[in-house]
Amino acid sequence: MSDLVVAANRGPFSLAEREDGSIEARPGGGGLAPSVAAALSAAGREALWVATAMTPAEHRAAKEGTLETGQAGLSLRLVELDAGTYASAYDVIANSTLWFLFHGLFDAARRPVFDQAWRQAWEAFREYNAAFGDRICEEASTAATVLVNDYHLPLVGRILAERRPDLSTVHFTHTPFASADELAMLPRHVRRELIDGLSGFGACGFHTPRWQHRFEEAAAAVAGHAPETFAAPLGADRARLDEVAASPACAERLAELEERVGDRTVIVRSDRMELSKNLLRGFLAFDALLEERPELRGRVCFVARAYASREGLAEYLAYRSETEHLAALLNEKWAPRCGGEPPILLDVDDDFPSTVAAFRRYDVLLVNPVRDGMNLVAKEGPLVNEHDGLLVCSEQAGAYDELSDVALGVQPFDVTDTAAALARALDMPAEERRRRSAELARRATRGAPASWLAEVLSHARPQGDLAGS
Ligand code: G6P
Repeated sequence: MSDLVVAANRGPFSLAEREDGSIEARPGGGGLAPSVAAALSAAGREALWVATAMTPAEHRAAKEGTLETGQAGLSLRLVELDAGTYASAYDVIANSTLWFLFHGLFDAARRPVFDQAWRQAWEAFREYNAAFGDRICEEASTAATVLVNDYHLPLVGRILAERRPDLSTVHFTHTPFASADELAMLPRHVRRELIDGLSGFGACGFHTPRWQHRFEEAAAAVAGHAPETFAAPLGADRARLDEVAASPACAERLAELEERVGDRTVIVRSDRMELSKNLLRGFLAFDALLEERPELRGRVCFVARAYASREGLAEYLAYRSETEHLAALLNEKWAPRCGGEPPILLDVDDDFPSTVAAFRRYDVLLVNPVRDGMNLVAKEGPLVNEHDGLLVCSEQAGAYDELSDVALGVQPFDVTDTAAALARALDMPAEERRRRSAELARRATRGAPASWLAEVLSHARPQGDLAGS
């Protein structure tokens, strides 16, 4: 039994089997799990984390009950679901419906389509949320605090409110939220169930007041009222970044990068290979920059780091191939006019020391998502950058709300505007660069993980609004 239970689809560590059959814990993927795990560690909080068993080693471990993670005070309890139920809940509902809806990625002429197959997937999503509800009820001690994360688990709030009114619960959404009009795209009973589920939590938190207010409006449109809400912006984890930046692996990657970029000015981006990250328009903006400014040809390069994500979904595979194809086409177009050197360096490996090396080296960091809950790259880059680097930031990233007066803002669909912002950044006088870069670094650690966690947990309440039940 635990006094603090954290639930998220993905665990803080992913378990893999060694050759001798023993089990090894490796840092978990995605942005959410490492941030929340680091926050628990920095705050010195003991907790039990409930997550889905995904790998074969995790399915084996799930049968053994509670596991130690290797992080002091953090244990792990895995939820086992049959593969079909999990695929429907994760691929069809969480990733292909809610993720698309919250990030404004639907193409209304064709998608979404809510047919019988989709309705069956929604049933699976209910089952998956119910399985988390069961595990949390088993593991939470009397009057414990429960923090549930993200769009995978919205229905858990109602389950806990009904079965365990002694618990203090809080839900945190790490993504944006849909507007009332966007939420209205969901089938009627589904949007009602979604808001009703979230309203079961003691409070619902978001990275910025922008997503908080969207949620309030959407909830009011669906249910006539909204539950308690709050905004708690998450900052960068200085300790983790400093440690990686000082590592020999990072020094080695930086030396390799210096070799590749030579004396060119360096634009960097670092993202998951993800539709909402807007990689294609980033390349088109770079193309427009080289068109507009001939003197930059051969003197500027674009290091685009984009590591694989959600490759079980056809859209993600197609997006990856489109991204790689566009980068190759532009390199073919520009290399002959850039002294024979391809100006785009696209790296698809998932290697954090390489990412931190790129952060240390950039002159301009491009963060241009279509929409993003926070986007920690916009904060992590400035924290370790060594070149008075500037930030070109989408006005649709949550981070922009905190950085709008120091970053160069862009409208993410406007490639011409993005190219112009890159040009402005490259032209900025040294003194102004220094000032902005220092200010970006200073703001990056506001909402550092331990204080963010304390803030989030301070909103946990015994029970949500049950009026909708
Ligand atoms: C990103 C988002 C998180 C989300 C996670 C899921 O990191 O910022 O809000 O929970 O993706 O990623 P996954 O790889 O588990 O689908």
